[in-house]
Amino acid sequence: MKKIIIANWKANLPIRSSLVLAKKYSSLSQKKFSIVVCPDFLGIQPISILLKKTNISLGAQDASIFPLGAHTGEIPSSALKSLGVKFILVGHSERRSNGETSEITFQKIQRILAEKITPVICIGENLIQHNQNKTIAVLKKQLFSIFSQLSKEEKERRILIAYEPVWSIGSGKALDADEAGFVCRFIKEFANQNSLSKVEVIYGGSVNESNSDNYLKEENISGLLLGGSSLNFPLFSKIVNS
Ligand code: PGA
Repeated sequence: MKKIIIANWKANLPIRSSLVLAKKYSSLSQKKFSIVVCPDFLGIQPISILLKKTNISLGAQDASIFPLGAHTGEIPSSALKSLGVKFILVGHSERRSNGETSEITFQKIQRILAEKITPVICIGENLIQHNQNKTIAVLKKQLFSIFSQLSKEEKERRILIAYEPVWSIGSGKALDADEAGFVCRFIKEFANQNSLSKVEVIYGGSVNESNSDNYLKEENISGLLLGGSSLNFPLFSKIVNS
């Protein structure tokens, strides 16, 4: 399977700039990686049209815990699916730090799986935990709270886990690729031990055009989740053409 590169534009762009960037993305012609772009919710509909004739997939940055219905202000997974969304980020540390609990993350994962969309579940340790060498223990806990609640059918679905050290996101401080590879291998093995057979583990956190290759070379890293460097088209195209 091709390695995957996911662009998370976060809430960085007003709609016009999102459309300009999406047009640039649509000019990419590379076959080495699967590319997924996650615009903000406002961009999803027009960008779904722009990307229709490309091999770039559409993703969302979050989704509601609710289905379609009387839920003011919510954006259900099924509504996203109708626009062609194939991947949804869930439990990103920026959401968790804004109050999203593990329970809410899990409810979102279930809704996403029910719509046959691939969840990209974000996990990672903070700086204190990292400095205390508690990374594996922290990740084990985060993963177990999800794995232990999934049904047998849900465990057989394609699931992406994005390992993103919280201290590394947007900080310019990236984890060494061999260390990231080691942690991603642990996640994959832990998923397999818990009967999840189709898990791919990707890495995110200050990935740029000078370090991306090191991660992509790692056998146990199935792809990348990019924030800042996905907003700069020349840098992004350097990464996907590496
Ligand atoms: P960054 O963000 O690449 O800007 O560190 C990654 C992410 O938040 O997914």
